[in-house]
Amino acid sequence: MKIVFAISEITPYASTGGLADVGAALPVALQGQGLDIVRVMPMYRRVLEDDHAHTDTGLRLHVPVGLRTLQAEVWQSVDPGPPTYFIRKDEFFDRRELYSLPERDYDDNFERFVFFQKAVVALMDQLQFRADIVHANDWETGLIPYFLDHGIHGVGRGRTEKVVYTIHNLAYQGIFPDSEFPYSNLPYSCFSLEELEFYGNINCMKGGIVRADVLTTVSKRYAQEILTPEFGCGLEGVLSDARDKLHGIMNGVDYSAWDPSTDHLIAAPYSAENLSGKKTCRKAAIERLGLEASSGTERAPVIGMVSRLVDQKGMDLLSEAMDRIMSKDVYFLLLGSGQEEYQEMCLEWAVKWPERFGVYLGYNNALAHQIEAGADLFMMPSKFEPCGLNQLYSLRYGTIPIVHATGGLDDSIRDLSEDATTGNGFKFREYSVPALMTAVERALVAYRDKKKWAALQKRVMQEEYSWDRSAREYIGLYESLLT
Ligand code: ADP
Ligand code: GLC
Repeated sequence: MKIVFAISEITPYASTGGLADVGAALPVALQGQGLDIVRVMPMYRRVLEDDHAHTDTGLRLHVPVGLRTLQAEVWQSVDPGPPTYFIRKDEFFDRRELYSLPERDYDDNFERFVFFQKAVVALMDQLQFRADIVHANDWETGLIPYFLDHGIHGVGRGRTEKVVYTIHNLAYQGIFPDSEFPYSNLPYSCFSLEELEFYGNINCMKGGIVRADVLTTVSKRYAQEILTPEFGCGLEGVLSDARDKLHGIMNGVDYSAWDPSTDHLIAAPYSAENLSGKKTCRKAAIERLGLEASSGTERAPVIGMVSRLVDQKGMDLLSEAMDRIMSKDVYFLLLGSGQEEYQEMCLEWAVKWPERFGVYLGYNNALAHQIEAGADLFMMPSKFEPCGLNQLYSLRYGTIPIVHATGGLDDSIRDLSEDATTGNGFKFREYSVPALMTAVERALVAYRDKKKWAALQKRVMQEEYSWDRSAREYIGLYESLLT
């Protein structure tokens, strides 16, 4: 079976969050199960500047974008694993960020990603790749089924491929003014109520939803939630109409990157059999964030958090709750970047509790690993969470998650008060400060019983969220489309 996997970010080349982790691991798992798969992503500045060697394939694509015809260079990674093609066009992708600066989105995002998606289709045709399935992800690739159907010039192509479209986050839909529609060169009939039109604008994610053959999202719970007005972000009606082709497949964990027994980024290795290295990691993480790991630190648990600092991640709740959290005897280590008001808030917290609140603003993968390893508890109070990966990483690092019961957090974390023998975290249902604080307080009480705590850590570290399981579910869907 031949698959083209189109995605706008892949770890380690360029990443803003979990999407890139999926781009890194799912194609590898699919290849491991015998599929012939290639990936395609844009060649951002970060890719141009990273340490990995990339080669120019010499292939050139001619891509119409409205009235202009632009040339794309096709580069390729030399790393092992599924072939990765990079679409190079410096005018669009040689920029500091992937999609937006802190204060605003790049104002040519529609044009940039129309170009990228057309280049994916042009590449498939030029290579005569003859894919059985094109697997597209999130709004940046939502128009791919249109370009497969209508061709990059909009005059017809005749699609033979089936399209699987995965929604990683419905909150980002790729909405653009109708005046930009001509960049797509698609027939105007595609800009209808049934297709790309959304309150007078173009909605790229809606396109993926209506035109894909199969639709997936990244947890079973989120697959149900997005059919409701609370989580559907205005697309609940469109999704309800598409519910027969909608499936929830939980993401997995790339244990070759996220396992404390083999993780080279952390201060000392440890495992469920021998947890002693976690103490070293704990001290190192506290000190890495500029705090002093005094002799009393064993008593005070370390709460870790690694997150985009945006509304989705529960920052409003934390802004109200932080005084109460820090009134307890705890350390808080936070790594994140995002909305300016939340970044400032984090800096204020660091000033307010200089000995116990450590913050690093920015994107830093090594530090993400060090916090996972060094923390005792991991904070994820997300308002909504399609899947969430850090709670799954936390389990493997023996770092007990505190989560809001939503999406993939609800699917993967079982509250310890409901079942002490199978529970793996602390979960609160109501999105409120008192509910969050009850979970925090329960966690702090549990932490005091060192023997039970160690037993809990050892148990959760053995849970398995492998990509092989997810890959098998995707393959089942691919096969269902080809019979
Ligand atoms: P989302 O994709 O919504 O941001 P996920 O939980 O799926 O959330 O994935 C987040 C991923 O991004 C994890 O691998 C996490 O470690 C990483 N991450 C988030 N923020 C940062 C940061 N500031 N520095 C390094 N890694 C980060
Ligand atoms: C999105 C979601 C996150 C999910 C990730 C990968 O960024 O916010 O919950 O884990 O995609 O699917």
